[in-house]
Amino acid sequence: MKIMAVVGARPQFIKFLPLQEQLLRTASQKMSYKLIHTGQHYDYEMSKIFFDELGLKEPDYFLEVGSGPHGEQTGKILTRCEKIYLKERPDVVIVFGDTNSTLGAALAASKLNIPVAHVEAGLRSFDKYMPEEQNRILTDHISSLLFCPSQTAIQNLKREGFSIHLGGELVPLNIHFENMMPVNVNNPLVLNVGDIMYDAIVSILKNIRDEETVLEKYHVLPNSFYLVTIHRAENTDDIKRFAEIVDFINTHTEGENVVFPVHPRTAKIVKSSDVRFHHKVRLTEPIGYKDLLVLLKNAKMVFTDSGGIQKEAFWVKTPCVTLRDETEWVETVELGWNVLFRDFSGSHGEKMSDRHPYGDGRAAERMVEIIKRVPLGQ
Ligand code: UD1
Repeated sequence: MKIMAVVGARPQFIKFLPLQEQLLRTASQKMSYKLIHTGQHYDYEMSKIFFDELGLKEPDYFLEVGSGPHGEQTGKILTRCEKIYLKERPDVVIVFGDTNSTLGAALAASKLNIPVAHVEAGLRSFDKYMPEEQNRILTDHISSLLFCPSQTAIQNLKREGFSIHLGGELVPLNIHFENMMPVNVNNPLVLNVGDIMYDAIVSILKNIRDEETVLEKYHVLPNSFYLVTIHRAENTDDIKRFAEIVDFINTHTEGENVVFPVHPRTAKIVKSSDVRFHHKVRLTEPIGYKDLLVLLKNAKMVFTDSGGIQKEAFWVKTPCVTLRDETEWVETVELGWNVLFRDFSGSHGEKMSDRHPYGDGRAAERMVEIIKRVPLGQ
């Protein structure tokens, strides 16, 4: 079986890590995999640093699509992936999350009738103006294997007409698929496998030794600073909205140390506008995943519009304030670890619960076993 995985943006490199570990563990003559990097993210701090520090496989193909309008970027990914699929003829294409790389790579496979496996299927913000929401919905509906991270994702797909397998419960690790009809885009398989980012965080945190050195690098002490990240188009492309967010952060972190690794998109608006943070906010270049996890784990609280960081905060037990009007990760809010910024009153954390809605950290193992065992194709 030939597997092709496609990544391109920062969070996808992290999501690929546990899958790579699992694929390496089970690699055999019967199963091989190749990696495409679309080049959606290309700066060292946005891309290569992840490959270097996480030990990710060098991509077999690098598409160099770079930045551009959404249609152009997605189109380039589609046409360049198509050429590679035609040459390599993979049996399945694995895509991750909700970026333009996800949709471009999935569409190219779908047009060639190659089964698509979507990792992180079923998430919805219910705002179809969001590029990520468009990417998610479209990718789910051309996928054959829909790997959901949670029950909420399962329920979203059920509402959209998908049949749900095993009642949406976490799939048993030793699942077998005897006498099953072929799984394809007309007969997709929707399964709750747990969240692959939980696999990633478990594996990386195990190997982090020297948290103090990392904190020294950012001039902070444990539990004495806030962490901020902002990168979403809806927050960075509208100056009024950006000013509102900065004002919110200034008010709630006044007099306290703040570390703020700045995404290139956000750097542009910081530079071109007269919006200012208070003097204890330290703006840095984008940072690698290990440093980010150490900062997150030791912060008093995180203010973010990232989807991944909302969950990572939940896993390392750091309260999170989400700088958006909605979130796909509703469980983190329900369980008291996360709050939308408009609902934030200055403190939260009173009703924090220890429930684990995102699986057991073995999502990649499930996915690889399922890909190996299901009858995939027409
Ligand atoms: C993309 C994803 C978003 C994801 C995020 C993770 C889409 C629609 N959005 O958003 O879902 O949460 O990645 O970080 O796919 N830029 C650089 N250097 C780089 C990459 C980007 O300078 O290496 C700048 C460019 O000016 C570019 C802008 O950042 O135009 C935005 O990059 P893009 O990849 O289009 O979207 P992200 O905001 O990163």
